[in-house]
Amino acid sequence: MIDYSVLPAFSVRETSAVANEITIRQATLADARGIADLVNLGEREGQLLPRSLASIRATIGDWIVATNRGRVVGVGSLVEMNHALVEVRSLVVAPEYRQFGVGGRIVNALVEQARARGRPTVFALTRAVLFFEKLGFIITDKENFPEKVWRDCSICPVQFACDEVAMVKSVVSQQ
Ligand SMILES: CC(C)(COP(=O)(O)OP(=O)(O)OC[C@H]1O[C@@H](n2cnc3c(N)ncnc32)[C@H](O)[C@@H]1OP(=O)(O)O)[C@@H](O)C(=O)NCCC(=O)NCCS
Repeated sequence: MIDYSVLPAFSVRETSAVANEITIRQATLADARGIADLVNLGEREGQLLPRSLASIRATIGDWIVATNRGRVVGVGSLVEMNHALVEVRSLVVAPEYRQFGVGGRIVNALVEQARARGRPTVFALTRAVLFFEKLGFIITDKENFPEKVWRDCSICPVQFACDEVAMVKSVVSQQ
């Protein structure tokens, strides 16, 4: 069992009162509705692909949530591309909880989950390049992820004008 509470975040603001009230943990089915609401928000902000409630429920073991007094205030998931590669997907923090280190803690928890599963490489397609760089990800070529392109980009409305950057982190070297 991974203890997500001990994982570091990088923001100095993580020491604030708000951040101290946040719990980072594995999602349960009781969180599914709260997860869907936040993913819908991220979709409306133009940052996330849609995820149905049914798909969230079916993959609930792949989700990490941040909660504050029982409310889901941040979410992120892992999506397996193949036995060696997992994607950080559907990462979003409620606007009023941003800039407190919550997003960084969720990503670190997902990276730990990937490591626990023996997946050596984690990647993200994102516009939040600085955010991921601070978490140890580096920019790479999108062509390195053909599974992602064929499986998911085909449903994206801006697939032919994609401005997302592919970023990757090796989890093997940290063992
Ligand atoms: C991206 C997101 C998850 C970050 O969550 P957060 O809880 O605010 O992140 P943290 O507090 O851990 O980290 C904040 C740091 O990341 C940087 N950062 C946050 N969002 C960023 C963005 N969109 N682009 C570049 N850097 C960003 C901030 O500059 C900040 O750095 P600082 O502490 O040096 O000022 C949040 O802004 C969000 O939900 N955005 C909308 C959805 C989205 O873009 N998801 C990413 C899709 S891959």
